[in-house]
Amino acid sequence: AAQLPGTYTLRALRKSDYARCFLDCLRVLTVVGDITEEQWDQRYEWMNGQGRGGYYLLVIDDGERIVGTGALIVERKFIHNLGLVGHIEDIAVAKDQQGKKLGLKLIQALDFIAEKVGCYKTILDCSEANEGFYVKCGFKRAGLEMAHYY
Ligand code: ACO
Repeated sequence: AAQLPGTYTLRALRKSDYARCFLDCLRVLTVVGDITEEQWDQRYEWMNGQGRGGYYLLVIDDGERIVGTGALIVERKFIHNLGLVGHIEDIAVAKDQQGKKLGLKLIQALDFIAEKVGCYKTILDCSEANEGFYVKCGFKRAGLEMAHYY
C-alpha cells in the first residue's frame, strides 16, 4: 500500500480542525458557505453525540493544515438481518496535493472502518470524471443515482 508523505498523518476529525483549514479543504469539492466556529461546534457535537455513532470523518493533516478529508456514514437497516450499509461521502484532497495517493489512502481507511464495523457493502455517488479514481480504489459501477433538489 502507498505510504503517506513524511509529516502527514491520517486521523479522525477533531473539533480543533476548524482552525486547521478543514473547511477550505472541502471547498475543492463544492460550495461550503460561511460557517462560524459556533455552528461548526454544534454540527461536530451532533455528529459525535452520545450513542449516536455512524459518522466517521477522517482527515489528512500535513503538519500545518488539513489537506484531505473523507466521510463514512453507517446506515442501519432492517433488511439483510439488520444490515449495515456504508456510505462514502465528501472526499476532497487540496488542489496542490492531488495525485499523491492521499485520496486512495482516505478511501482505503474508510473502507477498512466500514468492514470492521460490519457493513455488508459500501456505496457512493460520483461524477463520470471521478469513476476512474474509484475503480482504482476497488469500486465498480452499480446502479444509477437519482436526485430531487429542494
Ligand atoms: N480519473 C481517473 N483516475 C484518477 C482520477 C480521476 N479523476 N483521480 C485520480 N485517479 C487515479 C490516480 O491517477 C491514481 O492512479 P495510479 O494508482 O495508477 O497512480 C489513483 O487514481 C489514486 O489517485 P490519488 O492520488 O489517491 O487521487 P487524489 O489524492 O488526487 O484524490 C480526488 C482524488 C479525491 C478525486 C481528488 O482529485 C479531489 O479531491 N477532487 C476534487 C473533489 C472531488 O471530486 N471529490 C470526489 C467527489 S465524489 C465523493 O465524494 C463520494
